[in-house]
Amino acid sequence: MVKDIEKKIDELLEQMTLDEKIGQLNQTQINVNDVEKTKEQVRSGKTGSLILAMSGLAGNSENEHFYYDTMKELQKIAVEESRLHIPLIYGRDVIHGYNVMFPIPLAMASSFNMELVEKCYRLIAQAAASDGIHWTFTPMLDLARDARWGRMAEGPGEDPYLGAQMAKAVVKGVQGDDVSDINSLAACAKHFIGYGASEGGRDYHHVELTDYTLRNYYLPAFKAAVDAGVQTVMSSFNEIGGQPVTSSKQLLTDLLKDELGFDGFIIGDWDVLNQLKYHGVAENDYEACKQAINAGLDMDMMSEIYAKELKNAVLNGEVSEAVVDEAVRRVLRVKFRCGLFENALKTTEMPDFNEYLQLSEEMAQECMVLLKNKDNVLPLDKNKKIALIGPMLDERRPLLGCWSLNFDISLVKNYRECFTEVFGKENIVASESHLWDEQLIKISGADVVVLFLGEGNSMTGETHSLANIEISDTQKQLAEFAHSTGKPVIAIVTAGRPLGLQKLESYVDAILYTWHSGTGTAPAAAKIIAGEVCPSGHLPATLPRVTGQLPLYYNVPLSSHELWNGYYRKDCQRNYIDAATLYMYPFGYGLSYTDFTYSNIRVSEESIRLEELNNGKKFIVQADVQNAGNFDAKATVQLYITDKCATMKRSMRELKAFKKLAFQKNTMQTIEFELGFEELAFYNANGDFVVEKGEFDIYIGDNCMTSLKTSIRIQ
Ligand code: NOJ
Repeated sequence: MVKDIEKKIDELLEQMTLDEKIGQLNQTQINVNDVEKTKEQVRSGKTGSLILAMSGLAGNSENEHFYYDTMKELQKIAVEESRLHIPLIYGRDVIHGYNVMFPIPLAMASSFNMELVEKCYRLIAQAAASDGIHWTFTPMLDLARDARWGRMAEGPGEDPYLGAQMAKAVVKGVQGDDVSDINSLAACAKHFIGYGASEGGRDYHHVELTDYTLRNYYLPAFKAAVDAGVQTVMSSFNEIGGQPVTSSKQLLTDLLKDELGFDGFIIGDWDVLNQLKYHGVAENDYEACKQAINAGLDMDMMSEIYAKELKNAVLNGEVSEAVVDEAVRRVLRVKFRCGLFENALKTTEMPDFNEYLQLSEEMAQECMVLLKNKDNVLPLDKNKKIALIGPMLDERRPLLGCWSLNFDISLVKNYRECFTEVFGKENIVASESHLWDEQLIKISGADVVVLFLGEGNSMTGETHSLANIEISDTQKQLAEFAHSTGKPVIAIVTAGRPLGLQKLESYVDAILYTWHSGTGTAPAAAKIIAGEVCPSGHLPATLPRVTGQLPLYYNVPLSSHELWNGYYRKDCQRNYIDAATLYMYPFGYGLSYTDFTYSNIRVSEESIRLEELNNGKKFIVQADVQNAGNFDAKATVQLYITDKCATMKRSMRELKAFKKLAFQKNTMQTIEFELGFEELAFYNANGDFVVEKGEFDIYIGDNCMTSLKTSIRIQ
């Protein structure tokens, strides 16, 4: 099969003119004002791919247009009228749903249920494929430690291991077992690399990352995507320490293609070739073109600089034709693998609609994180009289989150509808989204107040960063009002990032963090509050108290002063004089309606010889987990390590494994993890992936702060 494809590519390459080769490296959009022009471009082989987006900021556009008939017509021209009959590959940002919207990726990461994530993306891919899309620009794998960055919503959060698991699950879901299946899409791991580390969370800004940090924290998710067979990778807008990624041979060719073994193609993000000029490293288009192609950037998204300059660069001998051939080979390889040469004109069906809709709600249920539940105020008895108050009560679009390109708003129920459905009209004694009045609550006779707070979809996404991520003063006041009535107050927080909740926390008895969880947001939240579903989401990123704490993340390196590691010492008051040091809720945290107890951690050996570990020897860590409460529920059992002394500073804790498991009430399970070289190794100062001798602490629990510990010595 592999040989067959390479042979077919050889045959095609032999017949292709230089112009036709360059055409395969050019991605443009449909010119809606002059479709004839696009037709001619396709007919003459001057474009290999069309992006189905109307602007570079599609993530915040509302239900972007889609030209289904034109797409079909253009594909027909490519396949039947272009000289070599090479099909187009259609790409679109199908990020977290298609018609039916699923939770934003950050929320999906909080499910810690990777089987379910894969299942969701399988159906999302099938839905998009039914509209003739071949390729989606997902998964977004940018590690993010600063919630001011609006794009944190699109990625897996602050942890490299969780990011790697999301990478695998999404790639497997999108591409299926067989990427040539007509219901599969090609996935695209983006944005390679370091984009999430932009200074102060300001989009497109400067990034400083040492190789050590890049390899140990930012790379693992991309490595996992490559290992899972991702067909394409997108290079990011940013530079790292003065070197734009798009013109970095070291990053694109040496690291991604040669070292990680990525054999698909790299597409630059929207207009990145022009950005080489804005970065100030290329004086003109010609220079930008040379730098990018020689660095290993295969396809140009939207700048048309390859189309304009690459031929000259080859004719002038400044880019060898072999470099162009290699890029074209990669593009054709993906087109062959995706079955486009056979299937480009075939159509397929939407997935079963009910299954699709149901799955989106199931995913929403698994994502939501119960952050606080004072005196077990939740779940609420269905006979309670309830006041529903707050700005999110009647909203629909905000529940979907950013990067919702194709959505059907008629499928989205709001909180008012769902809470009324679940608790009964007769029990909703007050409901108000805008007029917030203490009296209203008092006179209503409500037993409990449910507040619908948070942020809308346009608070996150590309170019939508915030300088202040705290809950607004108006929302805080609302909580204060509600609290002053003396009734229990439940906050439902809808958001696309970890918000700073310090101002809110003391006024509410319970907090359910629902994220932007798509079409299923409101039905899932109502069922969780009523106890029909037990919450099981856990935070994929630290929830700070105030903005000034950012960046705040759990896998922080040891500090030079032992007692000043605020994250791990509740008594540490010394990081700031004017603000709390401690997070509001740590990474991995999430409550359930039941009580899970963790005990009896043990390891299969006290020590292992390094050579044995290097040769593949594994060891087992076990702990007993008991559902000691009265609910059947799911637990997310997490395993962390600490490499206590190494040639480089290591993180205070690192997530290395997790399992999400169902427990019936009053049952116990022994949970087992197998660890070895992969889990204990890190990239050292030379860039080698090594395990060093010494002691490792191993923790098991339900968040990164667990104290249940054992250890192993590597000698
Ligand atoms: C720019 C964004 O950075 C990227 O994530 C997206 O896939 C492209 N635009 C295409 O819309």
